Amino acid sequence: MNTTNNIANRELSTEEILKIRKERMLPSVTHTYRKPLHVKKASMQWVWDAEGRQYLDAFGGIVTISAGHNHPRIKSRIKSWLDEDQPQHTTVFYLSSPVAELAARLTGMTPEGLKRAFFTNSGSEANELAILLARQYTRRYEIIALKHCYHGGTTGTLSLVAQHTWKWGGPGLSGISHAAQPNCYRCTWGAKPDTCALECADDVEETIKTTTSGEIAGMIVEPVQGVGGFIVPPKEYFPRVYDIVKKYGGIYISDEVQTGVGRTGGHWFGVLHNGITPDMMTMAKGFGNGASIGALVTRDEIADSMKGKIHFNTYAGNPWATIQAAETLSILEEENVRDRCARFGELILSGLRELQKTSKIIGDVRGRGLMIGIELVKDKRTKAYGTEETLEVLEEARDRGLLIGKGGLYGNVVRLTPPMCITEENAREIVRLFGEAVRATEKKLGYE
Ligand SMILES: Cc1ncc(COP(=O)(O)O)c(C=O)c1O
Repeated sequence: MNTTNNIANRELSTEEILKIRKERMLPSVTHTYRKPLHVKKASMQWVWDAEGRQYLDAFGGIVTISAGHNHPRIKSRIKSWLDEDQPQHTTVFYLSSPVAELAARLTGMTPEGLKRAFFTNSGSEANELAILLARQYTRRYEIIALKHCYHGGTTGTLSLVAQHTWKWGGPGLSGISHAAQPNCYRCTWGAKPDTCALECADDVEETIKTTTSGEIAGMIVEPVQGVGGFIVPPKEYFPRVYDIVKKYGGIYISDEVQTGVGRTGGHWFGVLHNGITPDMMTMAKGFGNGASIGALVTRDEIADSMKGKIHFNTYAGNPWATIQAAETLSILEEENVRDRCARFGELILSGLRELQKTSKIIGDVRGRGLMIGIELVKDKRTKAYGTEETLEVLEEARDRGLLIGKGGLYGNVVRLTPPMCITEENAREIVRLFGEAVRATEKKLGYE
């Protein structure tokens, strides 16, 4: 194929896309599924492939579609912006309405005290800024993160990440230490709910005392670890960790890239389930419903530490992305997604727990709102990681018209994060199709 001559002004076929990806892109561009999924059309919670097959999307990009694919309100706002010849691009050095609208909308949803916003292109970039600001405000350097965390793919954020699979580029920045993962299914201390003394929370203090100068700039935490496998720490974990961070003079940064804007149900941000207000929050993914945009919100006094400093990114005031994020937040508020996520999340969780009783490979079911993880194992007693089983369940689900994701260091956690516009019927359908996929996998891999 003469690539450049043949591609003008037409849609490429599945084969052409694969060939170009293979020959002209980095090999890190890989695909899910044995037979790659070529997505041709999407509407709300539905996706269609190049052969016209319809799928119920229970992953939403990767935890990214919140209001819904191609939500009509978002489409119409972007279309009219362009039809009116409003600027396709401008930076924050000129005035433009969407970026101000977005700042006002976002800070209308954030807790008291967190009312100063800045926009970025992605979650990684928001976290880079969080670390920069934490250091600037405290005039200290060291940062604490958690084992198995994921905070982004840039040099600084990869230094925070604690999963070897992402850190192949070698050592990152210095001054970052990792405390234990608060994982109740695989507790480092072998504790059970009735014997748990929150050793994982105390490990944050131990980490500060043994691996830092004792004077930290801050700690960055996901309220529910996302890429790490949808780990939901015990409720009491966060207040204790918050107190420890304060004791050592740091600021508490909540990475809400996956947990933000209502997905965890009940609250707009995942950290708020835990009875603490962080000093800073970062977000992306569902915040823009697929637009490449991230955000940081923080306290006045922390924001003020930037006075007189230059900090800029070209697209921080980008009208298309900010219109999409602003309209997304407006839709999420009007459609009361916090309640819907809580209600449908419970429905899916209870269906999955029923399924777990008879399944040989469902080791753990956990989650908050529409952020649900199912940890697959080869043996419920030994908890050997069900990596192969997870891949197979993904394939079987796809064959039944259901798109789901995976995560965890060992790739053995199924992730369900459907767009927040799903209906009760969709929630039941997710459980039914997932159940069928698990049973088919058990049969195929000889568990019956
Ligand atoms: C919790 C968390 N933080 C940060 C990021 C990085 O966001 P982005 O991929 O938009 O740079 C991710 C991405 O998966 C994430 O899950």
